[in-house]
Amino acid sequence: MEVKILPVSREDLETIYEIELECFGEDAYPKYLFEYVLEKKNTVFLKAVVDNVIAGFILATYHSRECTILTINVRKAYRNMGIGSNLLKTLEKEVEKMNIEKIILQVEVSNKTAVEFYLKRGYRISRLIKNYYGLGRDAYEAFKKL
Ligand SMILES: CC(C)(COP(=O)(O)OP(=O)(O)OC[C@H]1O[C@@H](n2cnc3c(N)ncnc32)[C@H](O)[C@@H]1OP(=O)(O)O)[C@@H](O)C(=O)NCCC(=O)NCCS
Repeated sequence: MEVKILPVSREDLETIYEIELECFGEDAYPKYLFEYVLEKKNTVFLKAVVDNVIAGFILATYHSRECTILTINVRKAYRNMGIGSNLLKTLEKEVEKMNIEKIILQVEVSNKTAVEFYLKRGYRISRLIKNYYGLGRDAYEAFKKL
């Protein structure tokens, strides 16, 4: 299976939003966020393409030496094939070239797959943020030094 990691462009936004909805339902980021970040300079927005189909994407922003992952999503049908790892690795390499020293992210404590995904890829939990996603829905903040 050949996976191409490419920058997201305006024509992809409809599909990107579909994937966001598939992964997060009513917790999805609003569509305008994706339109907005596409215009911004301090953003890394990458898609994973398999046989001309967008299978997933990663979105991150950065300021001085720190990058924050806003979201990483892989369509259900394409999970556990290494696509998420490929997106994350590509983002890490890209921001490392910009002298970014640290990547941070928040992940819902109940999202065991994503928590495991990050821990296995060298991220460490730095703190628990109570009610981050709404009442009773806590987040871990995690980081990786590059
Ligand atoms: C997290 C996510 C991006 C991973 O994408 P992916 O393409 O499946 O990732 P990979 O195939 O590279 O790796 C899969 C990893 O998921 C984790 N995982 C998968 N199924 C799991 C399960 N049942 N229990 C725990 N961890 C699991 C493991 O870490 C696994 O890695 P391993 O095979 O080395 O053990 C994907 O599950 C996803 O899109 N989830 C929904 C959106 C989401 O929660 N995003 C995170 C926002 S912070």
